[in-house]
Amino acid sequence: MSTDLETLRDSALADIAAAADLRALDDRRVSLLGKKGVITGRLKTLGELPADERKAAGAAINRVKQEIAEAIDTRRVALEQQAFDARIAEETVDVTLPGRGEHPGAMHPITRTRRRIEALFAARGFEIVTGPEIEDDYHNFEALNVPPDHPARAMQDTFYLDGRRLLLRTHTSPVQIRTMESRQPPIRVIAPGRVYRCDSDRTHSPMFHQVEALYVAERVTFAELRADLRGFLEAFFETELKLRFRPSYFPFTEPSAEIDIDGKSLGTGSGWMEVMGCGMVHPNVLEAAGVDSQRYTGYALGMGIERLAMLRYGVTDLRQFYNNDLRMLAQFA
Ligand code: DAH
Repeated sequence: MSTDLETLRDSALADIAAAADLRALDDRRVSLLGKKGVITGRLKTLGELPADERKAAGAAINRVKQEIAEAIDTRRVALEQQAFDARIAEETVDVTLPGRGEHPGAMHPITRTRRRIEALFAARGFEIVTGPEIEDDYHNFEALNVPPDHPARAMQDTFYLDGRRLLLRTHTSPVQIRTMESRQPPIRVIAPGRVYRCDSDRTHSPMFHQVEALYVAERVTFAELRADLRGFLEAFFETELKLRFRPSYFPFTEPSAEIDIDGKSLGTGSGWMEVMGCGMVHPNVLEAAGVDSQRYTGYALGMGIERLAMLRYGVTDLRQFYNNDLRMLAQFA
């Protein structure tokens, strides 16, 4: 082999060994063995040699070419292994590190309370129905026997929309009317949902939740109302309760009562606490909704979900339910 070819080979092999990464190696492959590479160039000059020297010279160049190709392959394998090792090292997961933990959400206490009320009534044969939050005056007031000059209609209590024709329902009682309009007794329904009043302090929120219950059939009595209510409340609070049926007035019931629970029986010890309004559905209401008041009687009741949730969970400021403070909400997980 000529010294010249030997020098070329040695410097090529040194270059290949020095290639720091796969890219550099490939550049070298191109400049040595590529179409315009040095070795290729050499092979092209063979034609200039005398015929008797060509064969030996060609064989020598081809051996060098072979040697260089092998060196490139060897170096490539080594560099690939190196790149792979680096990647493995970089992507290592330390399985002994402590976990980041999971933070499962919790049902909002109002939702929990609503579901609890629904389940207890469902177990007593009540079906869940709903009505619109944007109501008309007729269903929210008139059909419920609320006279036009009744204080509940006053601007300061009711959020009116669209002049005075539409409003945000002030209670769930309009669902009583909508239900009786669409079906005949026997009816046993509860209507949970949002209600709105222009009112805001420690125990009042402009939006809150009620559950309405309505039971209309032949010969429904006040005794049944009392028994069902006690059954529900004692199941809800999971304890025997001292209850008071305090005579009251609602335009849509007659007679009407408010139910108070003795705080002592709940362990809160703060005297009588009002939990809901109820009564026997007023004949005017039955008639307005298309139910024969000669044949049917019914009871109805309405309760505030927030009120029940406050008593059950010992929350004293209603606004805590709406602050979205996770320290408070997480307690209900
Ligand atoms: N609608 C009444 C209110 O929001 C609650 C109520 C009282 C509902 C007596 C009734 C009932 O169905 O019979 O204050």
